[in-house]
Amino acid sequence: MTGQSLHVAIIMDGNGRWAQARRRPRTDGHRAGARAVRRTVEAALREGVSTLTLYAFSSDNWKRPAAETGALMTLFGAFLRKERERCGREGIRISVIGRRDRLPAPLVAEIETTEAATAGAGRLHLRIAVDYSARHSIQSGQVGPDVDLLIRTGGDQRLSDFLLWECAYAELMFIPAWWPDFTAGELHTALQEFNHRQRRFGGLAPAA
Ligand code: FPP
Repeated sequence: MTGQSLHVAIIMDGNGRWAQARRRPRTDGHRAGARAVRRTVEAALREGVSTLTLYAFSSDNWKRPAAETGALMTLFGAFLRKERERCGREGIRISVIGRRDRLPAPLVAEIETTEAATAGAGRLHLRIAVDYSARHSIQSGQVGPDVDLLIRTGGDQRLSDFLLWECAYAELMFIPAWWPDFTAGELHTALQEFNHRQRRFGGLAPAA
């Protein structure tokens, strides 16, 4: 998958069920989810993906108990602090999309430091969606690059207010695995299937 621009977006679902199946707190599932993020970013680099957008926290996730949302905000900050140096070295630019006015101030500071530290990197653009709502983004005129491939883990088949505008012609793939179990192999298989799909964008298939 090299030599072309490819935008992959992922709805990382199933952290809670992964934890429940192990009789562990949901936050353990989110921590395992963060490890899966690291693995997936490495795999995306190897696969030649140019933009990877990950749905980390939807604006509707504020409906969850404060203990869980707080733990997630702390996890996002720790992830950015831990990963920014390595990402910059590896050519990974990190941006965070979504609203910032409702995020804890220390997380906003980590986001700003990370974006500045990795701004010059150009191999892979990692975009993390936090307090993100596609409807809100569209209403405020903030839309990004078209998505080529959208993957959702966890078995459900819906978009949950993620990149609604940008997914106008995205190929959709729904994978049963819970997010913490998502592997480089699964990303590879998804990209192989993507390469076999015929994208017509409303036009006609080329004549045989
Ligand atoms: C959905 O699973 C997942 C989330 C709401 C949080 C996603 C967060 C991570 C993957 C953690 C780390 C991310 C970064 C960028 C460091 P769920 O909790 O809704 O799972 P369930 O449907 O099984 O309950």
